[in-house]
Amino acid sequence: MDYTIDGIDGDMSFLEMMDVLNEDLINKGEEPVEFDHDCREGICGSCSLQINGEPHGPDRLVTTCQLHMRKFSDGDTITIEPFRAKAFPVIKDLIVDRTAFDRIQQAGGYISVNTSGNTQDANSIPIDKHDADDAFYSAACIGCGACVAACKNASAMLFTSAKVSQYALLPQGKVEAVDRVQNMVRQMDLEGFGNCTNTGACEVECPKGISLENIARMNREYLSATLKG
Ligand code: SF4
Ligand code: FES
Repeated sequence: MDYTIDGIDGDMSFLEMMDVLNEDLINKGEEPVEFDHDCREGICGSCSLQINGEPHGPDRLVTTCQLHMRKFSDGDTITIEPFRAKAFPVIKDLIVDRTAFDRIQQAGGYISVNTSGNTQDANSIPIDKHDADDAFYSAACIGCGACVAACKNASAMLFTSAKVSQYALLPQGKVEAVDRVQNMVRQMDLEGFGNCTNTGACEVECPKGISLENIARMNREYLSATLKG
């Protein structure tokens, strides 16, 4: 469908522009365009739109909700599509089902803690500053799926590796490390995501700057788990 929208200010966010479009459609008695959103501040990862062929649009290190209309020119035609991947089926209009990511996370993206009263205080476990920083950077992944949408193979390696890495770097995560990486990679494959061929488009389009180093770390973890298994 083609729509013409008036009254768009450069300081509006991309989603505010979509709100203007939908208000207009509702006022005319037409069906609004459905799109996903929640926090509108770059945290929840739900605003997954392919804008002019790029996940989250032309800006770098921002989500669609943080993208401003000043990045476009008056009169521009903007093409908006849902993220495209076999593992992200379209629900309606611009909304895709990204629960495949939830199932990968459920397969191993956690630690088991004994809460019987003998739990060790996390602050009593010394952690190297570099490891703590790297774990934090990996944990910054918001599960938006842009890495999958950017990849020609629809690979979920950047997402999965970020979730594996945030635990692999910390002592609390080492206890279940072997099962975690094997189970998460198995689930990733079961969901129908493609393989990584190191083109790096995922890293370029990731709004949180998740590095390819995470994929290298996950591959090392997987190899190590296979040798131990
Ligand atoms: S790795 Fe980046 S692009 Fe992929 S889900 Fe996480 S935040 Fe989104
Ligand atoms: S709406 Fe939450 S990250 Fe965009």
